[in-house]
Amino acid sequence: MAHAIALNFEDGVTRLIEARPGETVAEAAYRLGINIPLDCRDGACGTCKCRIASGSFESGDYLEDALGPEEAAEGYALACQARPTGDLVVEVAASSAACKTRPQSVTATLAKVARLSPSTLAFELDVAGAFGFLPGQYVNLTVPGTRETRSYSFASAPGTDRLAFLIRDIPGGLMSGTLRGAAAGLALEFTGPSGSFYLRDVKRPLLFLAGGTGLAPFLSMLRHLKAKGTGGHPVHLVYGVTRDADLVEVDTLEALARDIPGFTFATVVADAQSPHPRTGYVTDHLPAAALHGGDVDIYLCGPPPMVDAVRGWLHAQGVTPAGFHTEKFAVSGTAAVPLKRAG
Ligand SMILES: Cc1cc2nc3c(=O)[nH]c(=O)nc-3n(C[C@H](O)[C@H](O)[C@H](O)COP(=O)(O)OP(=O)(O)OC[C@H]3O[C@@H](n4cnc5c(N)ncnc54)[C@H](O)[C@@H]3O)c2cc1C
Ligand code: FES
Repeated sequence: MAHAIALNFEDGVTRLIEARPGETVAEAAYRLGINIPLDCRDGACGTCKCRIASGSFESGDYLEDALGPEEAAEGYALACQARPTGDLVVEVAASSAACKTRPQSVTATLAKVARLSPSTLAFELDVAGAFGFLPGQYVNLTVPGTRETRSYSFASAPGTDRLAFLIRDIPGGLMSGTLRGAAAGLALEFTGPSGSFYLRDVKRPLLFLAGGTGLAPFLSMLRHLKAKGTGGHPVHLVYGVTRDADLVEVDTLEALARDIPGFTFATVVADAQSPHPRTGYVTDHLPAAALHGGDVDIYLCGPPPMVDAVRGWLHAQGVTPAGFHTEKFAVSGTAAVPLKRAG
């Protein structure tokens, strides 16, 4: 049976390939022109050592000099020997350019833009055929008529031809301004998928912490979990925004909470004047139980100050989670016109 392999390169680029029955990871990559590091091809030199971030495989035959038992226990494998027995995510210890590949370039069609609130838009792109990515990843979208690109995280689950995104509507913002008035049918170019902020195999409780449109990758992860299950582990999301107007997709979260056993969430508004039942920061509304004494995989995404503040808070609590993955929605461009800050 064929298995999907996501090859994640050091520079954040992901290429999704398929291994034919019986093929090793290296054989599948080379057949498709992706030259991952390789030397002896015999399990002797260790050049092709990679980390299997998720999925099942047969590790094959190799010398202990090439891959020690401790490395194997930590999830490392030899690409020239490892044969997938399920879908795999493989971290390749080289850049995409060094492996003679690059991010996929895609021409998409704008299917719709919807205003979710005064500060937030949702948009959807149609692509030709089911599009693969890892839930939590993003694309680099070119602003039409320019060479500028902006990064946007998928809000939809992988494997469909309709891709959904959330975007903060920034006064004077180049991409948000373009999309605000755009009509369905507009051609948009993107490269991707990219990023190391993706949902790993669920092995323990999950804690998701989202700030603003940093909710998008969690919607993708949750939609994926709805389809694939959580393995019985609880999932808690704390979703914080600055003002009431920034709170979007709460209906979607409520529906997901009905559909995913063990999924709970809380919304938080930072504005102290807000009538919202929970005001302040996400860390003010993080029950100790959600940290599971550190036996938890934490995923944190939002504006850089929020990510830094939450990371600092966790450190101050003396919590060292079993897994900790972050994504900062760093500003990727400059304002097209003089800008009045939206905050
Ligand atoms: C990996 C990654 C994933 C991302 N995913 C998303 C996503 O899913 N959704 C999303 O909305 N954004 C996301 N971003 C941010 C996004 O790439 C853009 O930076 C953002 O949309 C602004 O683009 P723009 O062209 O509208 O504004 P620009 O023309 O780039 O104008 C930006 C200017 O506006 C100001 N500005 C920028 N952001 C804000 C803000 N939030 N509030 C107030 N002022 C601001 C800054 O002064 C900046 O100079 C992501 C960023 C990264 C790095
Ligand atoms: S290439 Fe030498 S161990 Fe794989």
